[in-house]
Amino acid sequence: NKGKYEHYMQKEIHEQPESLTTTMRGRLIRGGSHKAKTVLLGGLKDHLKTIRRSRRIVFIGCGTSYNAALAARPILEELSGVPVTMEVASDLLDRQGPIYREDTAVFVSQSGETADTLLALEYALENGALCVGITNTVGSAIARHTHCGVHINAGAEIGVASTKAYTSQIVVMAMLALAIGGDTISNEAKREATIDGLIDLPNKVREVLQLDQEMKDLAKLLIAEQSLLVFGRGYNYATALEGALKVKEVALMHSEGILAGEMKHGPLALVDENLPIVVIATRDACFSKQQSVIQQLHARKGRLIVMCSKGDAAAVCPGESCRAIEVPQVEDCLQPVVNIIPLQLLAYHLTVLRGFNVDQPRNLAKSVTTQ
Ligand code: UD1
Ligand code: F6R
Repeated sequence: NKGKYEHYMQKEIHEQPESLTTTMRGRLIRGGSHKAKTVLLGGLKDHLKTIRRSRRIVFIGCGTSYNAALAARPILEELSGVPVTMEVASDLLDRQGPIYREDTAVFVSQSGETADTLLALEYALENGALCVGITNTVGSAIARHTHCGVHINAGAEIGVASTKAYTSQIVVMAMLALAIGGDTISNEAKREATIDGLIDLPNKVREVLQLDQEMKDLAKLLIAEQSLLVFGRGYNYATALEGALKVKEVALMHSEGILAGEMKHGPLALVDENLPIVVIATRDACFSKQQSVIQQLHARKGRLIVMCSKGDAAAVCPGESCRAIEVPQVEDCLQPVVNIIPLQLLAYHLTVLRGFNVDQPRNLAKSVTTQ
């Protein structure tokens, strides 16, 4: 049931304040006056010790689910103290890459039925790793075959392009980082800020959804383009990859997410006055580096669209022709949840304006159950 919406993708983008609330329900415990706030993930509580003692955490997934894990990787590294690596499921299988008994392998999948991810799970089980699932579908193959896990509880996702599952996956993995990290003194400030940020996140998501009309106007400007680049780094490298994936899969426009630190190692050659480029430059530890990326793109007459924190438009835009998308600022590790939303809206409006099928893009299926 699409309710007041024209498409499922549109509905699922706009219901993110509610889906995120459901994802967190019963899992964030506010402590008393001197008791720190804590995270309770029922499905993991008996396994946290093993996870903390593992030699490595390996995230495994495909497409959007892989991107969600990439967005959560820095906070996991910071809070867990365990090295974190990333594997695209098919690539792990192609290489028969190393997975050890001392590893915790985390399988991220909305459907819980993706063939590549499921085969990677069988492979990791054979190799003796502790296998953890992060799935949206109760009773799915991945939920059943993992040793333990967390349901993201985002509600059924019907549009082929994953939107609300992505943001709920990031939130669950941030909670996973908090759960693994435990309440050590060194983590205390970051923990508290992250938990407060999680509690307020649905409000910030409601706020960023007000950019809908602005993103529709931007889509009108970009409707006839051949290509769109998205530059990100740090916490928002994943946002660049995921934003570009949305644009290519539904709007059928070539789009590429680029790690901004790699700009001078090739992509800079593409820059001219015609190619539109989105640069994600919200406030975090990478902000000044992104400012210098913007300057260099501007010096090559790049057509810039800068995503920045509220109030920063004048500070980040180098010239008249630059457009700004101002988003609310949140705790750095949660900023990817806010930042993806304007790009989801942009992909949605581009698709409708270009006259393509939003909910069932050509050649794609919601659940990829074949290799
Ligand atoms: C569970 C109940 C929830 C109830 C809550 C009350 C289910 C599905 N969830 O939620 O209805 O309100 O207790 O305390 O009955 N699991 C995997 N792999 C996965 C995902 C989950 O093995 O990919 C396992 C977990 O380890 C756990 C079980 O499935 O044993 C349920 O997981 P989850 O729904 O996340 O647990 P709770 O949030 O505690
Ligand atoms: C993109 C998209 C796909 C899926 C991928 C994995 O919008 O939906 O990239 O993310 O096929 O699917 P799940 O998460 O079901 O394993």
